[in-house]
Amino acid sequence: MINVALPKGRLSDEVFALLEKSGYKGASLAKNSRSLILEDEENGIRYFLVKPSDVHVYVLHGAADIGVVGKDTLLEATPDVYELLDLRLGVCDMIVAGPQGFVDPGDSPLRVATKFPNIARKYYGEKGREIQLIALNGSIELAPLVGLSDVVVDIVQTGGTLKANNLAILETILPISARLIANIASYKFKAKEIERMKLALAGEVPG
Ligand code: PRP
Repeated sequence: MINVALPKGRLSDEVFALLEKSGYKGASLAKNSRSLILEDEENGIRYFLVKPSDVHVYVLHGAADIGVVGKDTLLEATPDVYELLDLRLGVCDMIVAGPQGFVDPGDSPLRVATKFPNIARKYYGEKGREIQLIALNGSIELAPLVGLSDVVVDIVQTGGTLKANNLAILETILPISARLIANIASYKFKAKEIERMKLALAGEVPG
């Protein structure tokens, strides 16, 4: 049996569709279920449905052998796990956004609101720009609108949230997509099962 941590929410449908295409029971298992554990007995797989930003925690501690997680979360949390495969799902960008036409005056520390403090610190550290970090958990785009920050470091997918709030992309930090990760010990002891799943998924990742 291998245990697989999957992200609930936005990425979920895409991941289940990829599993289904790769020969696993994906969407059909998830349908009409509120259970947080889904069993695919035929293939010897148990899925855990977890908050996207918690997937790596289950994998790091071995509760899950493998998992699907956004590169944004991996860069932020830097968990000691193997990154096996770029699934090319949940494609988006990590960006700096702010009011249209915003120009950094550069005199005082730039106030940066974000759910990704480590990524933001690293990005501005490399640029040599001093910042004041404002760590938030969501609705990041609100911060510059109400004077809590000058800019945000966040992910943009459709651009809909920025547009609806009259914000613009000022800089692109890096592209993001979902990755297959593995627990280090599991990868050793369940190598065959994990490799089988990795290869099946790899054959179906979008081009
Ligand atoms: C994410 C992100 C942006 C939004 C971008 O937030 O932080 O707010 O999605 O997506 P878009 O470009 O398609 O509009 P999420 O939906 O995860 O909600 P949150 O505010 O709770 O972080």
